[in-house]
Amino acid sequence: MLGGGRSSEHEVSLASSASVAEGLREAGFEVRSVVIGRDGVWRDHAGDEVSLTPGRGIPEIDVVFPVLHGPFGEDGTVQGLLETLDVPYVGAGVLASALCMDKVVSKELMGRAGIPQVDYAAVTVGRWRDEPEAVLRELEVLGLPVFVKPARLGSSVGIARVPDSGPPTLRVALEEAFRYDPIVIVEARASGIEVECSVLGNRDPIASIPGEILLAGGESGWYDYEAKYTPGGMRLVVPARISQTACERVQALAVEAFLRSGCSGLARADFFVDGETVLVNELNTMPGFTQTSVYAALFAASGIAYPELLTRLVALAVERHGFERAHSF
Ligand SMILES: Nc1ncnc2c1ncn2[C@@H]1O[C@H](COP(=O)(O)OP(=O)(O)O)[C@@H](O)[C@H]1O
Ligand SMILES: [Mg+2]
Repeated sequence: MLGGGRSSEHEVSLASSASVAEGLREAGFEVRSVVIGRDGVWRDHAGDEVSLTPGRGIPEIDVVFPVLHGPFGEDGTVQGLLETLDVPYVGAGVLASALCMDKVVSKELMGRAGIPQVDYAAVTVGRWRDEPEAVLRELEVLGLPVFVKPARLGSSVGIARVPDSGPPTLRVALEEAFRYDPIVIVEARASGIEVECSVLGNRDPIASIPGEILLAGGESGWYDYEAKYTPGGMRLVVPARISQTACERVQALAVEAFLRSGCSGLARADFFVDGETVLVNELNTMPGFTQTSVYAALFAASGIAYPELLTRLVALAVERHGFERAHSF
């Protein structure tokens, strides 16, 4: 069990990993916890630094469950280390993890697959510094409001909604987003409600009943950092109050996006739904994972209880490792 991590979601990860450890024990597994500090150092339960040898696996560990969110955890970097150690691990591999963290690259890929999503444009910091006026003119086609986001972050950090009047201006929002990432995505605003759907499996994944994110009516009117992490900031309504057609579309798109991205084990697929119009927002390869988090809550509502969910994820990790290692390299 890996928890903590270097990203701003360190604390969130500790909450998730404590819950996962408890659930795994309940399911009959023996669990060893390793906490990755904000400084990046891995420490065992006694506080001793963990030493690892490439190719040697991790002593006494059969499967790693990296319950890590955001950069340096959910983005393929830790997954690369686990591949190098040659140990099975839960969740997406290197490429799918990195891909799903990158809002620009994932949107390009989804677009090619014909998966419906918002209109968007990517801006690099070099271009923004060289010709800001041309960039602003090009972004006009998206209209207002738009959402401006660092390409590879999470938890709504660095994201701004630029309204059609009033602050922040597009210029200010871009400057702010470039503090976090040299690549920024600007998206047309999607209308409707936010719906999430959990996916479980490897090559033949299943989708949960979709749930609806109901915001407590925060200042911003969107799912910002505060709404995500203030107790009572959001409420999950299961099932989502959408039509049968929209519900089936959400589930089909969740599975398709999962497969197109090459995900494995789990992902939470997030959508905007307006009537029968369903747009994919993003896939999270390691979503919040306490027993009451959206990911687990949606499967609980779909008849898969938390210990059972964890047991299946461990089995999927072993299956994937065996499948990958069966190929010549
Ligand atoms: N194009 C959009 N239209 C409407 N709302 C959006 C749009 N993009 C983001 N949002 C709002 O901002 C929130 C965070 O954006 P998201 O892309 O999911 O970033 P993160 O990876 O940080 O979760 C969404 O849950 C939603 O409330
Ligand atoms: Mg999101």
